[in-house]
Amino acid sequence: MTNEGNDGMPRGPQKQGFLLSFEGIEGCGKSTQLRRLAKQLRSRGYLVVETREPGGSQISEQIRKVLLDLGNSGMDIHCELLLYLASRAQHVAETILPALDKGAIVLCDRFSDATMAYQGYGRGVGASPVARLNRFASAGTMPDLTIVLDVPVAIGLARKRRAGHLDRLDMEREAFHQTVRNGYLRIAKRDSRRVRVLDGTPPIEEVSAAINRLVDVRVSARKAKLTKVESHAV
Ligand SMILES: Nc1ncnc2c1ncn2[C@@H]1O[C@H](COP(=O)(O)OP(=O)(O)O)[C@@H](O)[C@H]1O
Ligand SMILES: [Mg+2]
Repeated sequence: MTNEGNDGMPRGPQKQGFLLSFEGIEGCGKSTQLRRLAKQLRSRGYLVVETREPGGSQISEQIRKVLLDLGNSGMDIHCELLLYLASRAQHVAETILPALDKGAIVLCDRFSDATMAYQGYGRGVGASPVARLNRFASAGTMPDLTIVLDVPVAIGLARKRRAGHLDRLDMEREAFHQTVRNGYLRIAKRDSRRVRVLDGTPPIEEVSAAINRLVDVRVSARKAKLTKVESHAV
């Protein structure tokens, strides 16, 4: 990879494009809101790439299957951490950086803050090794904006249960998700310019409106770095 900062520190803001990650516990509304925002931004003519972690490239999607497999309950926490990072390295190199170079708005369903919240805090690997490894895996690429949708654990898990799809991580006990939620709030406190916490409990349309307001301001400020593709208008 050619984009690593000379000291491995976050290199953002990106030269071109805009990287936005959605974060928060299971069921907080990330995937729902990402789809809605993508549609809204496309209707305004922006080039938008929707992607997710773990996954977002062919190799990374293969790693995702291993990570979320219900049969892999015996996975060692360091194995888990390194698989997430391996998945990210490929995702950044193959999907995210090329899209940013084209001036796209890249909407990513989870990114490095998830590794910090889940492995760093949730699994107890610790913030400082995870911060170092995150920078290594992403070649210093950091989101320009991260939206944490905050909901109580009971609400998030109840939404997931209703939707009827539970994977290996959804099955973790409630206390684990609570630690992850608190982890996200700590991350947001430490990096309050990049990471914004929005209440994820109101109805979907209300959460969307809050997201649109926030994204409007940030995207407008970087308009010169973004590609307009009128043919993308819906
Ligand atoms: N604000 C909301 N209010 C009520 N239900 C919601 C809200 N946002 C999402 N949902 C529902 O909750 C479930 C989980 O949402 P999803 O977007 O998949 O969450 P995540 O991707 O964060 O796990 C879905 O069935 C979705 O329709
Ligand atoms: Mg989701």
